[in-house]
Amino acid sequence: MLPRCFGVLGDPVAHSRSPAMHAAAFAALGLPHRYLAFHVPPAGLGAALRGAAALGFGGLNLTVPHKVEALAHCDALADEARRIGAVNTILFERGTIVGHNTDGRGFAAAARALGVGAVRSAMVLGAGGASLAVLDAIVGELLGPEGQVRWVSRDPGAPGRDRDRVARIGYAQALAGPPVELLVNTTTVGMARGPAGFPVPTEALVGALAPGAAVIDIVVPRPAGGLLDLAAAAGCAVQDGREMLLWQGVWAEELWLGRSLGPDVVGAMWAALGA
Ligand code: ATR
Repeated sequence: MLPRCFGVLGDPVAHSRSPAMHAAAFAALGLPHRYLAFHVPPAGLGAALRGAAALGFGGLNLTVPHKVEALAHCDALADEARRIGAVNTILFERGTIVGHNTDGRGFAAAARALGVGAVRSAMVLGAGGASLAVLDAIVGELLGPEGQVRWVSRDPGAPGRDRDRVARIGYAQALAGPPVELLVNTTTVGMARGPAGFPVPTEALVGALAPGAAVIDIVVPRPAGGLLDLAAAAGCAVQDGREMLLWQGVWAEELWLGRSLGPDVVGAMWAALGA
């Protein structure tokens, strides 16, 4: 079989664990394919996608800051990507660029593994492409019947997607209201070379949590001394971004290869994500 090329486009992207994870999957499947990280600044996204299509790439992932912008460069969108309003997985079908989203399903699986369900009050930090998939999963699968979501952004007035049961607010307002049972960080705060802190002290965010709340920081790797450490010290159930990264990657790979992955392959991918 001829090797095919896959990859992730991002800016920054050097920190990405996706190459190691997908290399482990190809090795476990006995496939000769390659998966590389490509540093693509925002202005280069369209050219990069067209180039990859022309070169016969097997598929791509998109990360910060490309997930929303990618909508404009796809020839077609899967239902999930259209509903969420962001793309994290590209499939090339006979030269056309098809946008998918496996982040929402990945987040829902990760949250369930932490025991999250029927939440009454959730808070999502950040309004970028990853937050759209997280919101979709929370509203569609994790929120209880009366549940409400605080969607927290530095710029709450920016044009956004209105959603039932979701209030887009600023950081100062976010701290008022009923105790939060699920807190998710989708911002770049804590990422390698990302901003050092949130617009409010991390202690104040942890102070807004209900006893035993679940806290998920989708950043990989987990920044030491950050949100998760503080929340764990306060008795919360915490999870970093590896679980979501794993499941979005499993479903991306299944789309590219047109087959389902067995537990041995999923186990190899998880092992590649490291501690
Ligand atoms: P993606 O679309 O892949 O999520 P992005 O649009 O670059 O990537 O998202 C970056 C995220 O980091 C945004 O959610 C942004 O939050 P805002 O809604 O407040 O703009 C968040 N972010 C970036 N710098 C931040 C900072 N200094 N403090 C808090 N959030 C920040």
